[in-house]
Amino acid sequence: MRSIDPGNDYESWRRAARELLVAGVAPGEVLFEREQGLFGGAGGLREEPAPYRAGDAAKVPAAFVKLARAASCHREEGRWALLYRILWRIVKGGERDLCEISSDLDVAKALLLGKNVRREIHKMHAFVRFRLVATDGESGRETYAAWFEPEHRIVEAAAPFFRKRFANMNWSIFTPLGCAHWNGEQLAFSEGLAASPLNGGDSMEDFWKTYYRSIFNPARLKVKMMRTEMPAKYWKNLPEAELIGPLIQESRRRVETMHGEDLRPAKAAPRNRYLASLGEMSAAAACSGPSGNQSLAEMAGAAANCRACPLWKSATGTVFGEGPGDARVMVVGEQPGDQEDIAGRPFVGPAGKLLDEAFAQAGLDRSAMYLTNAVKHFKWTPRDTPRGKVRLHQSPAAGEIEACRPWLLGELHRVAPEVLILLGATAARSLLGREVKVVSGRGLIDAPKLAARVILTVHPSYLLRLPAGEVRQAAFAAFVDDLRLASA
Ligand code: URA
Repeated sequence: MRSIDPGNDYESWRRAARELLVAGVAPGEVLFEREQGLFGGAGGLREEPAPYRAGDAAKVPAAFVKLARAASCHREEGRWALLYRILWRIVKGGERDLCEISSDLDVAKALLLGKNVRREIHKMHAFVRFRLVATDGESGRETYAAWFEPEHRIVEAAAPFFRKRFANMNWSIFTPLGCAHWNGEQLAFSEGLAASPLNGGDSMEDFWKTYYRSIFNPARLKVKMMRTEMPAKYWKNLPEAELIGPLIQESRRRVETMHGEDLRPAKAAPRNRYLASLGEMSAAAACSGPSGNQSLAEMAGAAANCRACPLWKSATGTVFGEGPGDARVMVVGEQPGDQEDIAGRPFVGPAGKLLDEAFAQAGLDRSAMYLTNAVKHFKWTPRDTPRGKVRLHQSPAAGEIEACRPWLLGELHRVAPEVLILLGATAARSLLGREVKVVSGRGLIDAPKLAARVILTVHPSYLLRLPAGEVRQAAFAAFVDDLRLASA
């Protein structure tokens, strides 16, 4: 009897299996035994294996490769022997179409393993939670990391999804069964870790909690279904999991409240009748909109489920405004960008950093202001660049601005700021209801129905697009001058 170490993955088993086949070793004459422990194996990084091409294994049907690749990720000890038995029957036994016979016991077993693996990959895609662990001082590029505990060896199979979804940031996903790393150019893998290298919470965890709280709809609560979709074994690594128990307990009370709640905008005693009436008209046109008696936090929760335009489909989530509800100054941008979409907060990317710098020079305190956008979902298109695939910003269409307007009006109505700053044409169009030439019309504008003082200025992204040097410096100085009108 031979004893063979098949390694941990399909590729190393395939090499071993090929040698055995060539040597004519029958399935009953070989033991597939793993020599290293769970966290053993060569250290360092391994590159992603080359994708399978049909010619790679000319003698083996593609259906077998597909079956074997999936089943090999399972941790069932007998998987290597099972796959070798199937391979032997195909190559030596002439059962070329074996993989098509799902009633065959060996094939059925392998199919079941593959099914469990695919389910686990799906769970990993859903339940990995990244934390921001570093920001490069020069490029501003952020590095995120996550800890996940999968049942099976699925990291390599699951990683391409994260590469595509989070192409613009560096990330690592650590698991006991292998780790994946993306640096913006290359996907690499390393051995698993015994325990999470991450500790302590961070703002991404707060984001997941806020997001989960906002998508939690007590009227739809089905605890059994929830436990199936989000099995308890994953909960310990989900920052939002601590909310599940209290939210379930609270749900009955919330359902009763929702049933008694008037979801139309309030008609009685609006703080600003003009805004309330605009909000009412637009909210009626949208399929969901703010309710007149919701607080800002409740509106943020409701906006998380907004389907008034199709942008929600390709965005990570709704990015609602943030800041004190009684802020003296409210700032309105266009729409969240790539980084805002991931973080779930407005103005945290490059345009936000420039805005922060301008606020500082204008003597404005960001934490005392309410910052939001005319459109609450990131609109983008995929684009191949020398840095890899990126999500390229696209300007929102008039219909999308219109669909989001009830939320913006709802925020403006509740914050009721003394000073309103409109950054760029989209914010102006949304609140003034017409096309505006920002560069020629900038400065204080007359819109007393919106706020006592309304300032129209350029969007910080416009400054980022100008050639670096004197031109940009002069434009930045003019931008700061506009913002100073708020503190005057
Ligand atoms: N640009 C915007 O208009 N808003 C953001 O939140 C980020 C970039």
